[in-house]
Amino acid sequence: MIYAANFKTNHTRESTKNYLKELQFHLHHKKSEDRIFIFPPLTALDNYSGDFTIGVQNAYPVNNGAFTGEVGMEQLLEFNINTILIGHSERRDILNESQIDVAKKFAFFKEQNFEIIYCIGEPLEIREQGLTAVMEHLLAQFEGIDTTYNKLIVAYEPIWAIGTGRSATIEEIASTHTALKQSVNKPLLYGGSVKGTNIAEISAIDNVDGVLVGGASLKTETFLELVLH
Ligand code: PGA
Repeated sequence: MIYAANFKTNHTRESTKNYLKELQFHLHHKKSEDRIFIFPPLTALDNYSGDFTIGVQNAYPVNNGAFTGEVGMEQLLEFNINTILIGHSERRDILNESQIDVAKKFAFFKEQNFEIIYCIGEPLEIREQGLTAVMEHLLAQFEGIDTTYNKLIVAYEPIWAIGTGRSATIEEIASTHTALKQSVNKPLLYGGSVKGTNIAEISAIDNVDGVLVGGASLKTETFLELVLH
């Protein structure tokens, strides 16, 4: 299983350092085949080492240059970062990243040989129309994306389940993941209100290769409840 923690705009440099120290202390209990990813805010980047991979939640697809407020390869390489989240619904919807922007970012970081966790998801009004509409919406989010890339991990995150406490049902996750795997045969994470009380049933679903976690990843205790369940 893959366990990925997306801190979003939470935690500081200091609290991230403490978090990782505490996490590492418990990680010797994890299964050896499990992989742990942590996506802290950019200000918390440093040269950490442990049984986890640090990635960035976002970056700009350039080496360096005149892009006020953005961070490119030159800044990421200082911390040996080679993992990125691309296409999260908060970036698509709140920061207005279009499919073209997302695809450009994907192509650039693929060229840099980054491991990419690529997020897709549908809003509630599409889910309410049923699986065919959902799949049409999700597959459109692969436009311009090289789905054969060997360092691609896909994360399916229904937007209505993110941060709401209401995860998708087992049946919704199972049918969506089965359909997605037929189109894109890559490791596939589920995200959206994953927590200690639902990790056992979610991780037992066929074609769920891991989870992408926001809220329940913010404290080491709640994240470890998932990793060590
Ligand atoms: P959540 O967020 O676990 O707080 O629902 C998931 C995500 O946005 O990656």
